[in-house]
Amino acid sequence: MILQKENFIKIDTMSTSYVIRITAKGDIENLYFGEKLLSDDFDCLCQQNSVLLVNTLYPEGDESYTIDAMRFEYSFPHRGDSRSAAGFLRNNDGENFDFVYVKTHVNQKFDNPNIAKSHGDCERLSIELIDKAKNVTCYLHYIVYAQSDVICRYTQIVNNSNQPVKIIKLMSCQLDIACDNEWKLINFHGAWCRERDKVERKIEQGKIVCCSSSGLSSPECNPFFMVAQNNADNNFGECYAFNLIYSANHEISVEKSPYSTIRITNGMASDGFELLLDSQQEFVTPESVLTYSNHGYNGVSNNMRAFVKNNIINCNAQVPIMINTWEGIYFDITQEKLMQVTDYAKKLGMQAVIIDDGWFLNRNDDATSLGDWTYDKSKFKSGIKYVSDYVHNAGLKFGIWLEPEMISVDSELYRSHSEWAIKDDNIRHIVGRGQYILDLTNPQVVEYIKSVIDKVVNEYGADYIKWDFNRKFAEVGGGSKSGEFFYRYTNNLYEILNYANKTYPQVVIEGCASGGGRFDLGIMCFCPIVWVSDNTNPTSRVLSQEGSSYGYPISVFVNHISQSPNHQTLRQSTLKSRADVAYFGRLGVQMDITKLSNQEFKQLYIKIATYKKYMHIIEDSIFYRLSDGGESNYSIWQAMDKNAENGLLLIFQKSYNTVSSLPKAKLKGLDTNAIYSLVGVSQEDIGVAHASGDTLMKAGFSLPQNFQGVKFEKNTSRLLDGGTALFEIRKVRNKGQ
Ligand code: DGJ
Repeated sequence: MILQKENFIKIDTMSTSYVIRITAKGDIENLYFGEKLLSDDFDCLCQQNSVLLVNTLYPEGDESYTIDAMRFEYSFPHRGDSRSAAGFLRNNDGENFDFVYVKTHVNQKFDNPNIAKSHGDCERLSIELIDKAKNVTCYLHYIVYAQSDVICRYTQIVNNSNQPVKIIKLMSCQLDIACDNEWKLINFHGAWCRERDKVERKIEQGKIVCCSSSGLSSPECNPFFMVAQNNADNNFGECYAFNLIYSANHEISVEKSPYSTIRITNGMASDGFELLLDSQQEFVTPESVLTYSNHGYNGVSNNMRAFVKNNIINCNAQVPIMINTWEGIYFDITQEKLMQVTDYAKKLGMQAVIIDDGWFLNRNDDATSLGDWTYDKSKFKSGIKYVSDYVHNAGLKFGIWLEPEMISVDSELYRSHSEWAIKDDNIRHIVGRGQYILDLTNPQVVEYIKSVIDKVVNEYGADYIKWDFNRKFAEVGGGSKSGEFFYRYTNNLYEILNYANKTYPQVVIEGCASGGGRFDLGIMCFCPIVWVSDNTNPTSRVLSQEGSSYGYPISVFVNHISQSPNHQTLRQSTLKSRADVAYFGRLGVQMDITKLSNQEFKQLYIKIATYKKYMHIIEDSIFYRLSDGGESNYSIWQAMDKNAENGLLLIFQKSYNTVSSLPKAKLKGLDTNAIYSLVGVSQEDIGVAHASGDTLMKAGFSLPQNFQGVKFEKNTSRLLDGGTALFEIRKVRNKGQ
């Protein structure tokens, strides 16, 4: 709900309030963002600014207006605020932009110019500001999703003047919070095969900037981050969380000033960004997603989960349990092999066959052929449609791997359209995996990629596309519009993906970028599922999945059971650990299933059947981290259906210590007045509990002693290195029944 009373605006969501003041001078000040305020005592929220801050600046004639200590909703430079400004504009008269409040617009019905759906119960507040002398308008937009406790912010510049305006920096959001407490920044760094590793740092005076500059949202720095009280954890403490609905270079900045404020900004990366806005043109930033909870990280994660499920994911097609050919077969894919894989996949109870890399013209290793999306006749003698028919006749879906934004020098496409590659012949060339990126800012390239999608769906019968992207950007600095490159590239990528979604609503697109390099809300607007990481070894994977769970619902994760030893880490693991960890997401298998022994086949069959039993929980669960896997020896996860009736509890032990104390899992979100049972999902998961929701949440559930292997009896089960225990949580009855 958006309430305007005199010069105050209060935004209420289910559990939070966000209060803004329009000052007498026409600046927009943030007074409060936190737990829901039940009354409108706005005066009490106003800062008592003092003239004692002797070296801060103030507008002429008003010493109490201490600019450096105020909490502004958006800042431009050269206004006496020595913190970094969220926006930076320039025109022929210079950079001194001075935006002043004009009016407020509140809309229940509005068109979101960005890519999120803005479905359901949401409304938009737009604060209009103007620099009258320069005739440029700035809008601060807030889309309020009350049910999810989420507010999306974006910034718009309208150039009404008769000269161009250069946008040098335009963040989506600036939030100045009071730092009466000690706060920390928690964000998610990493690299290929180590995606979304949680990093915490204390926020001290000064500025922390984290960004991606490879052209992708990147595994190096995910756009999701949190600012929390120093003593916050999964369940306790005040926590703000932010994300960005954008897939290219982005920037997170957190700056603690000496005057009790922390300025948080996020948006498109300002490094290298520059966009010329001609007279009468306008520009809109991507959306920044904000939420707050005083129930720690699990609180903000669940707000984000609800928002992503309702307003980002836009695909109703069923996600199948899939066999993917990559690590089992690599480039040796043939028609015969694929048909054999299909027979085995069907017997194993799988629902789709996805041909990964290696199916197209002369693609026998990763050095050639990207761009030639025509099946290789030497591998598919009867044609790929013949194979897709075979898969469909077996009752399975048929999927195909594409890396459509790429071009290999050794390809038919390059021979006919070398000018489509992003290359600058005036400098030394840079490649990644031997390949170049196609210039999606060129409309001809956009049309070409759309035609590739048409071809694989209409001619090859694909119901599923795995959309990969395997290199970073380089050589994008050519031409006078290079500062706009990533913005324009990304918008055209969205246009293509939107075309695919709208034209082929039955086709599921899996997002992928060398593992999880484009794991962001922009991609998720079009791809309901995203490959988490190429690292499927459970001991590493558990951290990537846990890291991803802070900002994203587990229903988006694509997880595959792969072979042991693992192809990336060479570590060994049990099928049980690989499966138990993979269950917390969309399940697939990546191994040569035609070469399994009878016993391995039976075991895998059981694993897939088990997943089917619990799939409904994964598809729409509330997920809780009950321990911090980054710090402790255990990752403990609970996924519960929305009615708190049925769930899964995973205990993952990183390393085995003889006779150490076993962890306690204090469950979350149960019905205090109901009785629950906890039963092992497989025979190895010994230990049963039967207790009230109240007891399980307060006292917790502990693994039985023999999980330590101290009693070598028949039913002794041990949590060895990388070992898992998995339990089904089921509501048995209400208390007293
Ligand atoms: C990188 C992806 O992450 C893998 O899953 C696989 O599709 C390869 N690319 C294929 O080249």
